[in-house]
Amino acid sequence: MTIREIVTHPNEILRRKAHRVEKFDKELQTLIDDMIETMRAEPGVGLAAPQVAVPLRLIVVEYGEEEQDVSPKLYVMANPEITRASVETEKGVEGCLSIPGYVGEVERAVEIVVRGQNRFGKPMKVKAKGWLARIFQHEIDHLNGVLFIDRTDKVWKVEEETQAVQVSKAE
Ligand code: NI
Repeated sequence: MTIREIVTHPNEILRRKAHRVEKFDKELQTLIDDMIETMRAEPGVGLAAPQVAVPLRLIVVEYGEEEQDVSPKLYVMANPEITRASVETEKGVEGCLSIPGYVGEVERAVEIVVRGQNRFGKPMKVKAKGWLARIFQHEIDHLNGVLFIDRTDKVWKVEEETQAVQVSKAE
C-alpha cells in the first residue's frame, strides 16, 4: 500500500465530475487500499478518489460514533448515490483534506440512505445519520466537483487548535 498525494484546492481536478466505476479489477483494489492508508495517515474520516487525482466515483469513510465505545467502522463504496435524505437538516463544522487549515459551517440532511457497490461490485446500502451522514454527503459532493466551501459563507481559517480567525470565503 502507498500513501498518495492529496490534491488541494484550487486544483481543477477537484472540480471535475468523476466517472462511474465499471471495472472492479486489481488496479481498483490497489487504489482502494491506497485511499484507506492515505485517509488514516492524515488522519481523516473520509476520502474521495478525485482527492488523489483519480476521476472515479469511489469513496472511503471511516468513522465511529463517539458515544458508542466501539472501533470506527470502515466503508468502501463505489458509485454511491443518495437515494433518500431527510427533510430535516442541521448545521455542522466541516473540514476537508483538500482545503487544509480551513473549516466551515455546512447545512446537511440529518439522515440519508446511500446505495452503491462494495469493493467487489456487489450492491450495498448504508443508512446513516448525524456525523456519518454528513461525511457521506461531503465525500459524495467530491464526486460531483463540489467542495464544502461552495455550500457555506461561513469559512474560518484555523491557525491553531485554540485560535480560529474568521476570513472571507476562500475562492
Ligand atoms: Ni473533503
